[in-house]
Amino acid sequence: MLPRGNFPEKVFLNGTIYPSDAAQISVFDRGFLFGDGIYEVMVQLDHSIFYKKAHLDRLQENLDKINIAYDVGQLETQIAPLLHAASLEEKSCLIYMQVTRGVAPRKHAYPKGYPATTMMYALPFSLPHINSKNITAILEPDFRWHRCDIKSISLLGNVMTNEMAMNQNADEAVLVRDGLITEGSHTNIFFIKDEKVYTHPANEHILNGVTRKIVLELCRNLEIPVVEEPIAANVVSSMDEAFLTGTTTQIASIAQLGEHRFHVPDAIGKTTLKLQEAFAELKQLDSSTLIV
Ligand code: PDD
Repeated sequence: MLPRGNFPEKVFLNGTIYPSDAAQISVFDRGFLFGDGIYEVMVQLDHSIFYKKAHLDRLQENLDKINIAYDVGQLETQIAPLLHAASLEEKSCLIYMQVTRGVAPRKHAYPKGYPATTMMYALPFSLPHINSKNITAILEPDFRWHRCDIKSISLLGNVMTNEMAMNQNADEAVLVRDGLITEGSHTNIFFIKDEKVYTHPANEHILNGVTRKIVLELCRNLEIPVVEEPIAANVVSSMDEAFLTGTTTQIASIAQLGEHRFHVPDAIGKTTLKLQEAFAELKQLDSSTLIV
């Protein structure tokens, strides 16, 4: 029996909705053996899924990148039945989706003719109007692979660096590759200097977050100049503000990054606050079909 609480009530697995205890996969699933799969995380706010189209499009693009032949449209049609079964219709919740290359004899090369394994669940989850937490983050070497643009279920590098943050009583590990800041273990990072916003370009060294894209759109609307260039770890102390973004993080101000303290713990930089307020307003809209 799974302990009740943090586990979902229901799990959608390969076309059927099960009580979570009863949802089982083969040990020969390539997700289990190789971490060969893609995942997505999105949130429903009251009645509409926030930037649903952007999340589902990213899931499809990622599956296409690794040649898993699966039409995400099929999973989309199962969201409503799952939410209904889990009594989460019109409730704030987090939706997790995962598609793996399926069950096949263990050989590295992509097997042909085996159906993908599809899994999805929803859990009650609510977001604050504004994330008023002021984050402490450590800096750690980014020893992950060179395809961080793929939202792979193989997250060992992210898990290991996040654990380092937890062990140091920090909220997040911010990663540094070749002297340049890439992203957090489960977030993107932005800096502000002289009223300009800086963030790493969307290349193979970061996951192009949906929240990242929304923030870039908000900057355009608010006429805040954006520079998509990485910031070197050794110039962090010359930045005015910094914040993290992510689906479950929204926009979180960073009070301390590595050795550098941006401001006293309770203060929020003015550009960060402006973006947090604009983001909160966006959540009032029915954004389920919006793209970024
Ligand atoms: N993480 N970078 C990484 C490495 C991430 O894992 C995530 C999201 C982000 C932010 O992406 P988005 O804004 O689309 O959530 C950036 C999810 C939430 C997770 O793994 O739980």
